Amino acid sequence: MKALLFHGKDYPIAIQETKKPKPVKDQVLIRMQHVALNHRDLWLIKEQAQHFPDGIILGSDGCGVIEDVGEDADTLLIGMEVIINPSLEWGSNPIVQGDKFKILGLPDHGTFAEYMVVSKKYIFEKPEHLTSEQSAAVPLSGLTAYRALFSKARLRSKEKVLITGVGGGAALWVLQFAVAYQARVYVTSGSEEKIEKAKALGAIGGFNYKDPEWVAKAQKETGGFDIIIDSAGGKDFGKLIELALPGGRIVNFGRTAGDINEVSTRLLYWKQLSIHGTTMGTRDEFLSMIDLLESRNVKPVIDTVFPFEQINDAFQRMEKSDQFGKIVLKVK
Ligand SMILES: NC(=O)c1ccc[n+]([C@@H]2O[C@H](COP(=O)([O-])OP(=O)(O)OC[C@H]3O[C@@H](n4cnc5c(N)ncnc54)[C@H](OP(=O)(O)O)[C@@H]3O)[C@@H](O)[C@H]2O)c1
Repeated sequence: MKALLFHGKDYPIAIQETKKPKPVKDQVLIRMQHVALNHRDLWLIKEQAQHFPDGIILGSDGCGVIEDVGEDADTLLIGMEVIINPSLEWGSNPIVQGDKFKILGLPDHGTFAEYMVVSKKYIFEKPEHLTSEQSAAVPLSGLTAYRALFSKARLRSKEKVLITGVGGGAALWVLQFAVAYQARVYVTSGSEEKIEKAKALGAIGGFNYKDPEWVAKAQKETGGFDIIIDSAGGKDFGKLIELALPGGRIVNFGRTAGDINEVSTRLLYWKQLSIHGTTMGTRDEFLSMIDLLESRNVKPVIDTVFPFEQINDAFQRMEKSDQFGKIVLKVK
């Protein structure tokens, strides 16, 4: 079968021939139809110093059809169209993942292949209202966004929410979930065009983070935010503390703009702010996220669907932040 075998950051990324896996025990064999990129895949390609001589198949997101099962899985599963929860071995504590936690697509083989095997406990029937390519765009970023907005920030309707870097796959889910909950949503982006697209999805307004005056403009126009969901970090994080209203909650799950350096301690305690870090989510949160999609008819924003062979073009698009929404690959 064809798969994206990753050997380490110093090796080129290419689709290669490799052995088709066979399901054992409670595993199912999935014939992948569509898979989707996450920034995590790009981080691994750029930063993973470890060398994998045999290659690891990257990819956390995908949708496909079960073609075979191991001896401990029901043959009735064969033919089912499924998505995969990439949050593996979370553990028993909903507050934080346990020692064995891992994300699908390194260390275990992931979705960027014609076939993959995974334990049946991580598969969920494809949401009925979504196509295969839309479903592939759901798992990792939808789960992360759900936990950030609901479990961590504890959104209440009508609250004012700021989402940074809205062009990102996970940020866009936050926008859609917050709009579905009737929050008053604002965004930041490096692109005016993306701000307009976010408004078309229900955002009230937006600010260009490349404009040195954006914080002052946001403060003047909105008066500040109850909730800020950030996936960028970096030098602007300190400004988010300024923009948070007293009692505000700031949730971060990414580092697209790098490490956080300066934060005003005085503002942090005086405004009684809560700053949360979050990563992925539990099985319950995955189920609740799917329920939210189905009950409110939420569909992902797909930026581009590339043929599987053009995976390098897909990564380049992500690296340049050209996308608005999820970048999907059609496998078969
Ligand atoms: N912890 C977790 O569980 C988890 C889960 C998912 C993602 N993440 C992390 O979250 C981040 C986003 O992931 P993704 O897959 O959604 O990535 P993505 O689709 O590649 O989106 C990245 C976005 O970051 C925005 N951005 C770039 N520079 C920025 C800056 N200086 N300030 C604000 N925004 C900036 C851009 O938004 P514009 O195009 O609008 O300018 C870009 O579209 C990554 O760091 C990723 O590792 C973490």
